[in-house]
Amino acid sequence: MRTIIEPFRIKMTEPIKMLDRGQRIEKLKSAHYNIFFLNAEDCCIDLLTDSGTGAMSTEQWAALMRGDESYAGSRSWKRFKAAVQEITGMKHVFPTHQGRAAESILAATRVKADHTVPNNSHFDTTRANIEYVGGLAVDLLCDRGLDIALEAPFKGDMDIERLEACIKETGADRIPFCMITVTNNTGGGQPVSMANIRETRSVLDKYDIPFVIDACRFAENAYFIHEREKGYRGKPLIDIAREMFSYADAATMSCKKDGLSNIGGFFVCNDDRWAEEFKNLLILREGFPTYGGLAGRDLEVIAVGLMEALDYDYQVYRHATVEYLGNKLLELGIPHVRPVGGHAVFLDSKAFLPHIPPLEYPGIGLVNALYIEGGVRAVELGSVMFGRKDAHGNSTPALLELVRLAFPRRVYTQSHFDYLAEVIEAVWRDRGEITGYRITQEPEFLRHFTCHFKPISSEL
Ligand code: F0G
Repeated sequence: MRTIIEPFRIKMTEPIKMLDRGQRIEKLKSAHYNIFFLNAEDCCIDLLTDSGTGAMSTEQWAALMRGDESYAGSRSWKRFKAAVQEITGMKHVFPTHQGRAAESILAATRVKADHTVPNNSHFDTTRANIEYVGGLAVDLLCDRGLDIALEAPFKGDMDIERLEACIKETGADRIPFCMITVTNNTGGGQPVSMANIRETRSVLDKYDIPFVIDACRFAENAYFIHEREKGYRGKPLIDIAREMFSYADAATMSCKKDGLSNIGGFFVCNDDRWAEEFKNLLILREGFPTYGGLAGRDLEVIAVGLMEALDYDYQVYRHATVEYLGNKLLELGIPHVRPVGGHAVFLDSKAFLPHIPPLEYPGIGLVNALYIEGGVRAVELGSVMFGRKDAHGNSTPALLELVRLAFPRRVYTQSHFDYLAEVIEAVWRDRGEITGYRITQEPEFLRHFTCHFKPISSEL
């Protein structure tokens, strides 16, 4: 059959509230035009993130009941550790309450004030954790990754030449480790090829620099490798994932993505000294190393979820949903990152709203228009999230101005995506009326979560 169906039936439902346009404008105003302040119940289709927002399977709910809540050495910890080791093959496993906790302890134990950490593209929390301890987070995405319209299989790849140049310029002794983020969330959810992971490893080997994978969407990346890279067709996804991890010395993970859980993360590594230092800070910040900030039941859910994420039929369905929306946008001529990513469709707000300059935040204009039009909650990945400000308050815009429509896992059905496409089409039709924004209040770090905006035109 041509139709790819959801490989599950729905056993439990959650109502969606429909507000009218006037009500939505009022809600947005009281949220200071920042969708992070909206109540979730006021969003009709919530695509703010694919993180922790998925639906659990019957097996996960059943596993949850098996949770062993012992403080130390629980059965749930053993099952969690076994699942993580089966996939990553790493010697040391540490649960954390989510991905950023693993990043923060990694940064605190390994990154010093004059250090540089290269990555294909740092996620915002990874960058913030490195900068918080005084390090410099450098993005070395390949040029293909910046060409929004280019149809290429692995636009998340690291630029190997620039990586080597960065190492030579910085000095290997000032690079505590190098990261690769799979898939590359910030750069449009694009995959990284196995060849690129291997090449990164061999450059790092030359300079004796450890290699850390940011593995949040490792299963989606494994599926892309299966579909697009020569020699991997027909291989079980778990084998592809194992090969990816085999090139790394350590990994950070947010299980809220490809752990198919609502909370949780982990850090894995092979080096005993890294493990010892990580463990000591973990106890201080998260909890005893066999639960690391999680309940026993969370560990159970993740042990099952990691394996379900590697199920081939699940990945076929998952990617079909993202492509379904992507193809509709293509037909309508609406600019978005091509090909579509593994977990999200990224609209190109620069091309969508060319009349709004980057420092008037076209991404915020588009995000707010999507909410007003159809109650769709999306998120800006542009100059608000990634723009820089120097000591004199001068702002530099981000390289790309994107709006991400992230797909929660196993949550929305085809009619939701049809509705979504209609909303985007309506916003596209009236795009000339969308205004830019200015920031009226902002914190020092991760400003996108809590800053306040005001529309530049007074229409709203
Ligand atoms: N790395 C990547 C690539 C991520 O996408 C995220 C989270 C993290 C690290 C941090 O993990 O949230 O468990 O602390 N991304 C979410 C998102 C928040 O919406 O893309 P966390």
